[in-house]
Amino acid sequence: MVLSITMIKKISSKQLIKGMYIHELDCSWMKHPFARNQFKITEIDDIKKIQTAGIKSLKIDTSKGLDIPVDNQKSPKEITSNHQTNKGTSPPSNNLTKIRKEAKQIKGHAEQAISNIMADVKLGQQVEMEQVTPVVDKMAESVLNNQNALLGLSRIRNMDTYTFEHSVNIGVLMMSFTKSRGMPTEVIHEVGVGGLLHDIGKALTPTEILNKAGKLTDEEFVIMRKHVVDSRIILEKTPGISQNALDVAALHHEKFDGSGYPDGKKGDEISIIGQMSAIVDVYDALTADRCYHKGQDPSIVLKRMLSWTGSHFNPQLMHEFIQCVGIYPPATLVMLSNSYLAVVIENNLNLLLPRVIAILNTKTNETIEPKLVDLSKQDKLKVISSESEHKWNIEPQKYLDLV
Ligand SMILES: [Fe+2]
Repeated sequence: MVLSITMIKKISSKQLIKGMYIHELDCSWMKHPFARNQFKITEIDDIKKIQTAGIKSLKIDTSKGLDIPVDNQKSPKEITSNHQTNKGTSPPSNNLTKIRKEAKQIKGHAEQAISNIMADVKLGQQVEMEQVTPVVDKMAESVLNNQNALLGLSRIRNMDTYTFEHSVNIGVLMMSFTKSRGMPTEVIHEVGVGGLLHDIGKALTPTEILNKAGKLTDEEFVIMRKHVVDSRIILEKTPGISQNALDVAALHHEKFDGSGYPDGKKGDEISIIGQMSAIVDVYDALTADRCYHKGQDPSIVLKRMLSWTGSHFNPQLMHEFIQCVGIYPPATLVMLSNSYLAVVIENNLNLLLPRVIAILNTKTNETIEPKLVDLSKQDKLKVISSESEHKWNIEPQKYLDLV
């Protein structure tokens, strides 16, 4: 069954941001400066045009574009959809809002930093650690306080900014992974730097190869693979870089059985940090939406990766990684035993019983007001399966923002 959930929200034109999808401008088509009534805001200029046309309010479709940032959200009760709404349930608590809002800002700053650094490298300039360290400090603070906040954000994807988002995600995942393995804070910082900069060599990869929609030819693949060596060379010249950061960049495409690149290193020839980086790189790449394929759901990716342990990955580290991100990582869509569809918010010690937010009764096809449920504190409810967000046409991230 495929459900299409329309989320139409009336907002002020002052709340407009790039990436929102305009469903309806509150004025006649003749009076506004656009060729169509429904479109995505891709330029800041579009926002200016709407505001200078005197349009005070409009409707956005949050299933096709960005929603109002979390700090401007009013309450979960405002969600509208084409499903019938059951008003008998209570909204979730609000205690994580501040942490999530901060995490979003940190992610935004980190992506901006990577974007700036890559632009510098393209111009032949050196990486300046001063641009990286403050961002990593903030990321470390967030990961050490509540790693789920940044981990949950890793599900937001924009194809245009894939390389920056992937870099930030590798930083966050590496920091969470080292933290959950009990490694020292210094190492957590170092792998954060390594994650952010691991694909810096892609600044030198021709854009047409980097963004090619179809499969790469053998020659193109050789050029693409060169980014690892370029990353290492660039970082080796960076004053203040640590060996752990270098290892993330230089070893993230090596495989446990020696079938990786650039050096075909094998087993213990790859440092533990290098082996960890290979796991997080594949996990993030397979869960991401790309122009040529839809990202897969995290729990499916983890299952596939488990089947490759021993060949691609160190089996022990792969199991530890699952302990770190959870069997149902934050922002996974799951089916509960009472036939409610829910979004995972946070993992509990028992990875099979996370905290979730129930959103849809699949028996009656009614959306409910989002309701927070801690499965570890319930006797009867459990997760039956993970569900495809594409199949249900639901963006779990939106519900994470409500908590
Ligand atoms: Fe890479």
